[in-house]
Amino acid sequence: MKVLVFKSYEELSKAAADMVAKQVKEKTNSILGLATGSSPVGMYKELVKMYKNGEVDFSKVVSYNLDEYCGLGADSDQSYRYFMQENLFNETNFKETFVPNGLAKDFNVECERYEKMMESAGYVDLQVLGIGGNAHIGFNEPADHFALNTQLVNLTKETIDANARFFASASDVPTKAITMGIGTIFKSKKIILVASGKGKQEAIFATVKGKITPNAPSSILQLHPDVTILIDEDAAGLIK
Ligand code: GLP
Repeated sequence: MKVLVFKSYEELSKAAADMVAKQVKEKTNSILGLATGSSPVGMYKELVKMYKNGEVDFSKVVSYNLDEYCGLGADSDQSYRYFMQENLFNETNFKETFVPNGLAKDFNVECERYEKMMESAGYVDLQVLGIGGNAHIGFNEPADHFALNTQLVNLTKETIDANARFFASASDVPTKAITMGIGTIFKSKKIILVASGKGKQEAIFATVKGKITPNAPSSILQLHPDVTILIDEDAAGLIK
């Protein structure tokens, strides 16, 4: 695991965008795994800028997003599909983009469909991750085991409260979500994780130096052969 500490969110976003662009230049038909949340927003801004300047081309790139809220569709401005359209897809030229269907009739069937689709595609070349304050990745919440495949999960109160800032109130936050499993994420050839701010200090400690336990889901990344953690000095506060 490589840890890169930057002076500012802008610098870390630029470095993360450079890594994604490098991947796409080296393999034009790359499969990217993408994340939502505020952490990768700066990176997406940089990628849009690079695309508009002709520095990167996504026309052969396919993407799979990590997760989606159950009950929210593409036209709901809180859905992760909507977030991705706004922050990246509407502004660039991806060949195809996939996000779990939050309006599926049967969520378990949707999870199986999503996993199978990724399996047939050969899984992800470069996966981008954010991290929750409780060290969740995607929506893999602290648990007593690591989830293997894409699955339906109940969100913890902590995550619902943390994500309530994007909704009118905490009671509007969906309580369930579909997420790639830890096993799905682990099949990615490369992983980058972006995080900033003091609120992520403990989660970053758990990721980099903590005991490997499903209680801190990101800690399993210590076992993956190609992970780069990009953080600012605040988020690095406990690992110095
Ligand atoms: C959500 C997403 C995660 C993300 C996390 C942190 O729970 N499912 O993928 O990493 O939020 O979000 P933020 O970057 O806004 O702190």
